[in-house]
Amino acid sequence: ASTLGAAAAQSGRYFGTAIASGKLGDSAYTTIANREFDMVTAENEMKIDATEPNRGQFNFTAGDRVYNWAVQNGKRVRGHTLAWHSQQPGWMQALSGSSLRQAMINHINGVMGHYKGKIYAWDVVNEAYADGNSGGRRDSNLQRTGNDWIEVAFRTARAADPAAKLCYNDYNIDNWTWAKTQGVYNMVRDFKARGVPIDCVGLQSHFNSNSAYNSNYRTTIQSFAALGVDVQITELDIQGGSATTYANVVNDCLAVPRCTGISVWGVRDSDSWLGANTTPLLFDGNGNKKAAYTAVLNALNGG
Ligand code: G3I
Repeated sequence: ASTLGAAAAQSGRYFGTAIASGKLGDSAYTTIANREFDMVTAENEMKIDATEPNRGQFNFTAGDRVYNWAVQNGKRVRGHTLAWHSQQPGWMQALSGSSLRQAMINHINGVMGHYKGKIYAWDVVNEAYADGNSGGRRDSNLQRTGNDWIEVAFRTARAADPAAKLCYNDYNIDNWTWAKTQGVYNMVRDFKARGVPIDCVGLQSHFNSNSAYNSNYRTTIQSFAALGVDVQITELDIQGGSATTYANVVNDCLAVPRCTGISVWGVRDSDSWLGANTTPLLFDGNGNKKAAYTAVLNALNGG
């Protein structure tokens, strides 16, 4: 196959990208995005601050712009994200305790209700674990509402849209030896044991020199999958853009049947949240295919 999406589809997988609504008027951007990718994540437009800027007043203008572009071009959509310590609107940042807990529940119901039946998978909870060696939760206003906030979010999400796969999504859970990876693994194992609804784990996979790709990535994917959840590579970028590392990531996903798809976090280097000078993506700023692109396409095509 000659595009990333078609090549991934040969094994029943998808290949997606983050899309920014503000770039949908850039035809160089949309031409590449439409041609190459078959799954879309809104880079910012479905986050809490975007969708509920005032308490109880939902705004889906930008989210729908991304959603409609995707669906009109035959693509599926990952929802990102419903419960997160970051990008909370000011009113939510100011809440705590039971009123914050209720606001989280109302937010999940409001957003998932709007997109009910339309989303392949939701990142229900994003980045709830701490960096470093603790293996425990990140401190946040949500965490201070009680340790059960994550399972409440997942139970709320299942009831709000039973058709969507429900994912836990995080960064620095790629290296199997890291405490953060083990912390998330233990949470997912506990959720499966107790019947808390969870369908997938999102490995964001932002790789750089401090958080480098490690060959135990395949073990991480296999280990989560063995718990009975799908694994999705949700926000892939590799600073420096090593073609070899990109191929390794793809081959690790292809090696695990329950690794259902890969999304890169932007189209061209100039679209990356990291800045174009870090060259982390598959297309250069002029829209040319990079060596990393060819490596990914070849891997998806079976070698
Ligand atoms: O839209 C405003 C613009 O009006 C304003 O002039 C400008 C000035 O700062 O800010 C613009 O908003 C920025 C927004 O991106 C859109 O460009 C925000 O400041 C900026 O904080 C925001 O950054 C996003 C970041 O999440 C925020 O946490 C990045 O685009 C987005 O790529 C990044 O994505 C996250 C995932 O959601 C979760 N995992 C990590 C990943 C990378 O940080």
